[in-house]
Amino acid sequence: MNTGRYRETLPARYFYDSEHYGRELQTIWHREWICVGREEDWPQAGDYRRIRLGDQQIVVTRARDRALHAFHNTCRHRGAALCDKDEGHFENGRIVCPYHAWTYALSGELQRVPRAAPADDLRPGDLTLYRVALQTWRGFVFVNLAGQPGEELPRALLDEGEHVAAWPLEALSRVHRETRSLDCNWKIFWENYLECYHCPVVHPELCQLVPVYRTGYMDYTDAGLEPQQGRPHAMLRPGAVTWSADGTTELPWFEGLGDKERETGMTFSTFLPTLFIVAHVDYLRTVQVMPLGPEQTGLTIDWYVHRDVVGHPALDVERLTAFARQVVAEDGRVCELNQQGIRGAPHRHGILLGIEDYVYEFEQWVRDRVGD
Ligand code: FES
Ligand code: FE
Repeated sequence: MNTGRYRETLPARYFYDSEHYGRELQTIWHREWICVGREEDWPQAGDYRRIRLGDQQIVVTRARDRALHAFHNTCRHRGAALCDKDEGHFENGRIVCPYHAWTYALSGELQRVPRAAPADDLRPGDLTLYRVALQTWRGFVFVNLAGQPGEELPRALLDEGEHVAAWPLEALSRVHRETRSLDCNWKIFWENYLECYHCPVVHPELCQLVPVYRTGYMDYTDAGLEPQQGRPHAMLRPGAVTWSADGTTELPWFEGLGDKERETGMTFSTFLPTLFIVAHVDYLRTVQVMPLGPEQTGLTIDWYVHRDVVGHPALDVERLTAFARQVVAEDGRVCELNQQGIRGAPHRHGILLGIEDYVYEFEQWVRDRVGD
C-alpha cells in the first residue's frame, strides 16, 4: 500500500486527445485479447456479429462445422465492407460481398469471383478474408488483432479466470442484456471500477449491502480492518447472500461453490481492458467494455443464471437486474462528470491517494503499453 506522498494521474489529455486515443488503439486495443461476446451469441451456422474495435471492424461468424471465425470486415477485391449491420445471418452458408459479389466460405476462403477471366490469373488461395485470431474461454469469445490464428490465450488471462473457476460458466443462460454508451473515455470507466473511494458518496445502497465499502476500500485487508466476526471471507452484511435489493434470493444456488465463494457473496474477475465478471451464489453478471471514441465508451451488461434455472418460478428478471442496474447508473453518472471536468484547461493531471492504489496500478499498465 502506498504510504508516501500522493502521485499524479496520467496526463489529463490522455482522456480526450484524439491523437493519444489512436495510440492507445494501436498499443492496447489492437494488441490485447478482447472479449466480443459469448458463444451463445452465434447460435446458428452463418450467424454473424460485427464488432467495432476502435477504428477497426471485425466480423465474427460461425461456420457449418460450428467453429467460430473472425475476419476484418473487408473484401479482398477492392476493400468494401462485407456487413453493414451489427448482427445478421449469411444466407446459404456463404459470405457475398455486396459490391461485386465476390463470394467467401464462412471459414473465409474465397470461393467465387464473378466474371473473372483466366487472364486475370487469380489465386483464390491467396485471397482468403483477412483473419483475426479468435479463442474461446469457458464460453467467452476473445479476438486479437495482432494475434496469429491458433494462438493461445495468455497465461495471465487464464489465471484471472481462476477466481470464478467454481462457477459453471459453460452452463450459463443469459436472461437479460443491456447496452449503454457512456460519454467518457474508456480509462475513466476502468478507473471508477478500480476504486471504492467514491462508494460512500455515490452508492449508498451498495454500501448498506457491502459494509466495508463505507470505508472507501475494496476489502477488509486494504482497509486495515478485521473481517466480519466468524466469517473471514464475507463481504456482504450478515443475512445477505447476493447483490439484490434486500440481499436475499429465492433462486437455487450454483452447485459446486466452495465455502469461500458462498460466504464472500461476490467474486470478481477482471480481464483488462475489456471484461469483468461478478459472480454471486445465484447469478452472474458480466460487463464488456469497448472504446467507441476518445470520449465515448460502449458497455454491454449481461445477466446469467444456470441454464436449468431458466423457467424457475422464482426467476424474476426485474428483481435480478435492478440492484446492479442502479449501481451501473450511479457509476455512469460520475464517469460522465469526470469526463466533462477533466477537460478544464488548467487541469494537466489529477491526484491519486493511497486509497486509489489500484487506479495507479492500472495507469502503470496503460503506461507500459503506450510506451510512457
Ligand atoms: Fe467486394 Fe468488389 S469490393 S466484390
Ligand atoms: Fe462504483
